[in-house]
Amino acid sequence: MLRFDVLTLFPDMVAPVLAHSMLKRGQEKGLLTVKGHNLRDFTADRHKVVDDMPYGGGAGMVMKAEPILLAVAAIRHEAQASGEDIRMMFPTPHGRPFTQDHARQLADERRRIVILCGHYEGVDERVRMALAPEEVSLGDYVLTGGELPALVLIDAAARLVPGVLGDPVSALEESFVDALLEYPQYTRPAEIGGIGVPDVLLSGHHEAIRLWRRKQALRSTYVRRPDLLKGRIFTKEDQQLLDELMSEGLLTAPTSTPGGGLSP
Ligand code: ADE
Repeated sequence: MLRFDVLTLFPDMVAPVLAHSMLKRGQEKGLLTVKGHNLRDFTADRHKVVDDMPYGGGAGMVMKAEPILLAVAAIRHEAQASGEDIRMMFPTPHGRPFTQDHARQLADERRRIVILCGHYEGVDERVRMALAPEEVSLGDYVLTGGELPALVLIDAAARLVPGVLGDPVSALEESFVDALLEYPQYTRPAEIGGIGVPDVLLSGHHEAIRLWRRKQALRSTYVRRPDLLKGRIFTKEDQQLLDELMSEGLLTAPTSTPGGGLSP
């Protein structure tokens, strides 16, 4: 059972996402639990104040340390009562980039994973000092808070827990498992706006389809994310497919303009 505790000022931002699709199913099957904790419930004053002005002045508000430390202490206490430990995470643009390896590691985690969602201009530095959370970044951009990143971590980890996805091979086959991007997929109808489906996919030849898909995955990765191929040692088959792509002149960026799309 994969367990998450989300510390947030906005539990209503988190709950609806968990009520649908695979995350919902994972919870229903008892493979995943996600508990939201409202940081306002860990304040002692009448107005339930969770933020305050920064010492030294400046714009914006800073999240107070005490409600966060109290909430973490309560979760730790509860976890310890059932012989569990916690793993503390803090999504922030200052963190280590979150990757599929990281998601895999979370999916295997036996401890309760506590995710602190930051907001406003920041969090009192003493939270970092006291809890030394693992800081993870989703990318080089700034979001309004940690709720969306928290959901991303949960989603990326949960889908790797056996049984959460309907089809056990789908998590294995797709992007990043062996650090290649996905091959293109098609479904009915067989023709849209004059564009058909590659013949091989209609051929029923499983081996030909497998090779075509592998070749497309290699091409897509080479063209879009060459960094993923750096330093990689290719199998004979992959090298042969790359050689084919090269001689077919297909290892170049797609000619369509981004956002151009199909005409209606
Ligand atoms: N919080 C705000 N921006 C973020 C980002 N890019 N990654 C993770 N957490 C964040």
